[in-house]
Amino acid sequence: MTAPSTIITAEEIHKSFGPLEILKGVSLEVHRSEIVAIVGASGAGKTTLLQILGLLDRPDKGTVLINDVDVHRLSTNQQADFRNRHIGFVFQFHQLLPEFSAEENVAITAMIGGMGKQAALQKARERLTRLGLRERLTHRPAQLSGGEKQRVAVARALINDPEVVFADEPTGALDSANKSELHRIFLELREQTGQTFVVVTHDPEISKIADRTILLKDGRITSEM
Ligand SMILES: Nc1ncnc2c1ncn2[C@@H]1O[C@H](COP(=O)(O)OP(=O)(O)O)[C@@H](O)[C@H]1O
Ligand SMILES: [Mg+2]
Repeated sequence: MTAPSTIITAEEIHKSFGPLEILKGVSLEVHRSEIVAIVGASGAGKTTLLQILGLLDRPDKGTVLINDVDVHRLSTNQQADFRNRHIGFVFQFHQLLPEFSAEENVAITAMIGGMGKQAALQKARERLTRLGLRERLTHRPAQLSGGEKQRVAVARALINDPEVVFADEPTGALDSANKSELHRIFLELREQTGQTFVVVTHDPEISKIADRTILLKDGRITSEM
């Protein structure tokens, strides 16, 4: 068996907010095509860690390598470009733009990546259809259910075919049927595309799909299951 290739290496990540030391030296490695769950109590620093791994925040100390790129050494512009090409984010609250339709919300991310509007809309429709939203393409977020909004957010995270998808409590606001459905979607995408998923969650059901579960406690990773 060949060693699995590493896509993310975080070393000794430290982060404080004022006097509050939230991350006290977190190191972890994620393999390509892995589904890794990060669990821990509310306030443990899961969102902070995910945002540092996903280039939405900076560590005070420590390094993050993604595809061997030391991502926190990139300039702000390079970081934005790197994120757009390699990373998809699914937030705890969908963060869809309320004045735009489902297909527009998804297409905008492709357009930021340089795709023309018609091609981006076409691709967005394709992705939304694959996620079971063919009848909802022109609905605005307020016209969608919680599960539908979160699937639109997943389509948006995936529109540029990122290698890594970071998801922050993506099922937090969903009922159990929609939770299972979203988990099934992550699993299916990993099978089809080989994408890597790092999912912060409270949801014990994640263990059904995760290859590995990491517990964040007192600012450190205390165990892996
Ligand atoms: N931007 C910020 N400014 C000040 N404190 C913050 C900020 N972001 C997070 N915190 C604090 O850091 C701690 C960890 O937050 P967070 O990473 O959101 O935890 P989790 O996602 O595990 O619930 C919390 O106590 C929170 O209040
Ligand atoms: Mg959080």
